[in-house]
Amino acid sequence: MKKNRQIAVIGAGLMGHGIALTLARAGQYVLITDPVEDARASVSRRIMDSLKGMGESDEKIAKILKKIEITGSIERAVKNAEVVFEAAPEKLDLKRKIFAEIEELAPETCILASNTSVMPITKIMSELRIKGRAIGTHWWNPPHLIPLVEVVSTEWTDVAVADDMMALLEDAGKTPVRVNKDVPGFIGNRLQHALWREAISLVENGICDAESVDTVIKASFGRRLAVLGPLENADLVGTDLTLDIHENVLFDLESRKGPSPYLEQLVEEGRLGMKSGEGFRKWTPEEADQVRARVARHLNRLDGILLD
Ligand SMILES: NC(=O)c1ccc[n+]([C@@H]2O[C@H](COP(=O)([O-])OP(=O)(O)OC[C@H]3O[C@@H](n4cnc5c(N)ncnc54)[C@H](O)[C@@H]3O)[C@@H](O)[C@H]2O)c1
Repeated sequence: MKKNRQIAVIGAGLMGHGIALTLARAGQYVLITDPVEDARASVSRRIMDSLKGMGESDEKIAKILKKIEITGSIERAVKNAEVVFEAAPEKLDLKRKIFAEIEELAPETCILASNTSVMPITKIMSELRIKGRAIGTHWWNPPHLIPLVEVVSTEWTDVAVADDMMALLEDAGKTPVRVNKDVPGFIGNRLQHALWREAISLVENGICDAESVDTVIKASFGRRLAVLGPLENADLVGTDLTLDIHENVLFDLESRKGPSPYLEQLVEEGRLGMKSGEGFRKWTPEEADQVRARVARHLNRLDGILLD
């Protein structure tokens, strides 16, 4: 893969900083832009902290930072860009406006990617003049530590654009996966929230408490999930056994179309999770910090280890 490709990252928040550092670490030249001064002022420090957490030396960090330019001008960021990654807030109108502006300023060959979590790329990009370059790249948080990026093609996306994006991400050490239809939630969030829907339902129906749901997953199939996907697992135990199990359990699983009334009630009552001290469970600030530290430790330990 060619190095020093000019890449623009739009939005220097949680996702933008990690996307920028990942691509710069892989030898690309990144221009990151954000209209908020605080975000621009703090992004170098946040990138430095993340790279330190990944075990990079001071010398390597300095080298990576030289490949990242911070600018308040979206024009400067995209003017010569080969690829744009948009990581602005999850608001449809804002994203549409940003891409309309980028289309005026960027070269016609520039690939335009959105990092939306769940919104269809088709909705965000429908007003583009040149739609063949519209694509979704759903990085996961933290983007510099979670390998997966879902590469979402719309009905208009050129095959060459998707191929180039896959190659760029692979070269940056990511594990990109093609999503061939632009469906809400792509692949990962559909799977994740199918599990969360059942998890909430188990608590709502008094089958167990929230802590037990989490313990069951962490102490059983959660241990295998990083090295054994569900369909590999089905093949491992046999599709015949899988069919027998499905015949006996699927009819009883949660199949509600919308969110759970129990979840709606938590939100209504201000039980918003760790940030308010209570959600499904009660949390002291220390307990919440312990959970965050545990996840960061785990992901940093796994960084660079190939799980095959
Ligand atoms: N946080 C996650 O876990 C996660 C995971 C995957 C995808 N995403 C998606 O990534 C995107 C960014 O999320 P985040 O968590 O980094 O949010 P964030 O709030 O941390 O960062 C967004 C940044 O965009 C900036 N911004 C605001 N208006 C802008 C504009 N007009 N142009 C450019 N930048 C602008 C903000 O100042 C902020 O710095 C969202 O679409 C989100 O849904 C988030």
